[in-house]
This record gives sequence, C-alpha cells and structure tokens, in this order.
Amino acid sequence: MENFIYYTPTEVVFGRGGADQAGELVKQAGATKVLIHYGGQSAVKSGLIDRTKAALDRAGVAHVELGGVVPNPHLDKVREGIALCREAGVDFILAVGGGSVIDSAKAIAYGLGEPDKDVWELFQHVREARACLPVASILTIAAAGSEMSNSCVITNQDTGEKRAYNDDISRPKFTVMDPELTMTLPDYQTQSGCADIIMHTMERYFTGVDHPMELTDGLAEALMRTVMKYAQVLHQDPKNYEARAEVMWAGSLAHNGLTGCGTEGGDWTTHMLEHELGGMFDVTHGAGLAAVWSSWARYVYKDNLPRFVKYAVNVMGVTPGASDEETALKGIAAMEDFYRSIAMPTNLRELGIAPTEEQILQMAKSCAQATGGSKGAIKVLYEADMAAIYRMAL
Ligand code: NZQ
Ligand code: ZN
Repeated sequence: MENFIYYTPTEVVFGRGGADQAGELVKQAGATKVLIHYGGQSAVKSGLIDRTKAALDRAGVAHVELGGVVPNPHLDKVREGIALCREAGVDFILAVGGGSVIDSAKAIAYGLGEPDKDVWELFQHVREARACLPVASILTIAAAGSEMSNSCVITNQDTGEKRAYNDDISRPKFTVMDPELTMTLPDYQTQSGCADIIMHTMERYFTGVDHPMELTDGLAEALMRTVMKYAQVLHQDPKNYEARAEVMWAGSLAHNGLTGCGTEGGDWTTHMLEHELGGMFDVTHGAGLAAVWSSWARYVYKDNLPRFVKYAVNVMGVTPGASDEETALKGIAAMEDFYRSIAMPTNLRELGIAPTEEQILQMAKSCAQATGGSKGAIKVLYEADMAAIYRMAL
C-alpha cells in the first residue's frame, strides 16, 4: 500500500428534510451573508430555492441569489457571481444543485478569495490558489461528487476549453444530501450520474501496478456493484427511496478520496478524454465517460492484465475464461452490456456525436495540452494514443 493523506472535512447531513436545516448550518459555519447559487430551473420548479431561502430567513442569515448555471458550467457565470458577491458583501456560497452548480460556486469562491487575480489562471495552472471563501451545498443529483471533492471543473465558453483545478481549500464545509430531492431527475441524468460515480471509482481502481490493497479494493468493488445494482432499479423505478439513497451516498464516497487510499492516484485518462468532448460538444459528463471507457479499456488492458481480471471477476461477476486475456475482455464487454441496460452509450455514435478527423485531432491535442503532454497510470498515453482512442470510440 502506498502512503496517503485522507482529508475529508465536509460535514454530511444525510436524509429526508435536510434542506430545512440549511439556515442553522450556514450560521454554524460563520456565514453572515450568503449567495444562494443554482442552475436552470429544476430547483426553482421543485420549490427547493424557496425552501432554502425560508430556512436562511428563519436563522436570520441574509442572502442574495444567482441562478442560471448551465451543465458544463461557464466562466462567464463565475465572473458574474464574483461581481455580484463583491458588491453585496457575500461571505459564504451555498450551491443548490449538482456538480455544475457546486463547481461554479467553488470558482466564485476562489475569485473572491483573491479578488485582484483572474480566476481562470487557476484552471490554466499558471498559479495556485492561496484563499477561497467557504462553500457548501444542497445536493440535487448524485453524480459528480463535487459536494465532497477538492475538484472544480469550468468551461471557458470563448475558447471551448473545459479545465479542472483541484485544491483542498475548496472542499465544501457541509453537504445536505436528501435522496428525495433527486426523484425529479430525468432518467438520462440519473443514469449519467451513476456512470460518473462508477467511473470515479474505476479511475482510482485501475492503477499502474497491482498493489496489495485488500480493503481499498474491496470498498471500490462494493461501491461499483452497489451503484450498478441500484442504477438498474432506478431505470425501472425512479421514485425508489432506498435506491436513490444508496446511489447518493455512493456518489460522495466515490469522489471524496476514500476509494483511492493507498493507490498511486489512479488513471484518470477517461475523464480527461471526456472533458474534451464536454468542451467541444457540450455532452453530459457521465454519458460521455460511458461512451469512451470501453475504447480506453481495450486500448490499455494488456498493460495491467491482473487488474482487469480482478475487475471482471469481482465487479462484473464474470466466470474466468481459458486465459487472463479472455477474462479481461469479457469484463469489458460485460460493462458495455450494463451500460446498454441503463440506456447509456458505449460509443460516440450512441452518445449522439460524430467528430470529424479534424475534430479528433483537435481534441487529442487539447487533451495532451491539458495533461501536460501525457496521462495514465495503467498505460501512459500521449496525443497520438488519445486520438486513437477517440477513433476507436466512433
Ligand atoms: O439546471 P437545472 O435545471 O437544475 O437542471 C440540471 C441539469 O440540467 C438537472 N438537475 C439537477 N438536479 C435535478 C435536475 N433535474 C431535475 N431534478 C433534479 N433534482 O441535471 C442536469 C445536470 O446537472 P449537473 O449539475 O450538470 O450534473 P452533474 O452533477 O453531473 O455535474 C456535471 C459537472 O460536474 C463536473 C462535470 O465535468 C460537469 O461539468 N465534474 C465535477 C467534478 C468535481 N467537481 O469533483 C468531478 C467530475 O468528474 C466532473 O468532471
Ligand atoms: Zn466525473
């Protein structure tokens, strides 16, 4: 097992009715004026924004609001939020929504932490953040895991670049997780969320060497099996509370670092390949991951065959074949079958996009640029490899 630091400072308030405690929670966290940040319309329509405002009013905490965050959140909205908060004297950002809203909130918080600097520089990795306002969330979709993660992903709508910045100082102070809030999700969003949760675990599970990590592997395998089981339940029965609860809790544990303890950090190439698809085609993140994963897997599996065999047997329930290679390939095919069972894409055509050769080369170039030239733990991939995987996924 590799040495590790496990830092997960986010208070979790899990279960029905948690949103009504938001006022007390922000007050305990020291907030005096809060930005309530939200997305397009779902949280307004469900009455959650009104409930949140009422909870803050009851606690006597002042607030302003800013909606309109889009999936694959835009830098423009971040800048609008920074300007609004400066003018209003906001000292705490409460995101009400999913990963896009939480990431937009984190970026606003970074911008306010260092008001004389351009926040986009963080995403260009030309400097590191030294300050960040406190952020918390009321989560409405189990997916990105931003509610407990150190990560923030923003798209610069002018350049089409979708870029991540990771820093522990942006980890949320608390997260309210009421599974009932996720019952209004369209099936496509529920399943894209499940694909993202599984992928956050797989990125950490697929390490370069076959470490002896019985506990971490066991946690990761149980998490993946659980999400796969309940994704299928929700595909048939979207109002199933227990299924919503299992998936929601899994979403946070998949991305708060737990399933990576003792690894060398994991692979993460599939995520980087997807970020380019998000930046260029504005696809839903989890669906984009599902569409490229099996192409990535078939490109790299020989470089750590024992890991792919373990995954096939322990996660996908595959009966070992005549050779390790056969077992590994059966595991990848079983994952594609699972994605089909929940109406998730297994290639770019099913995702609804058809990149040209020119666009593939552009995405591969941008991906290599974003990763400093190469990415991957199972197999280190360069620009030409990235282009090859996009082509395999067509
Ligand atoms: O905008 P509204 O109307 O709220 O609709 C949203 C949006 O269209 C809708 N939605 C959310 N909760 C709902 C709901 N609709 C009905 N009922 C509800 N309860 O769902 C759509 C997707 O929302 P979004 O926030 O985009 O989803 P998700 O949580 O999947 O976040 C995706 C973003 O997070 C980034 C992704 O790249 C993408 O930009 N990621 C962030 C990470 C992090 N910060 O740790 C890690 C991830 O790997 C990921 O990259
Ligand atoms: Zn993700």
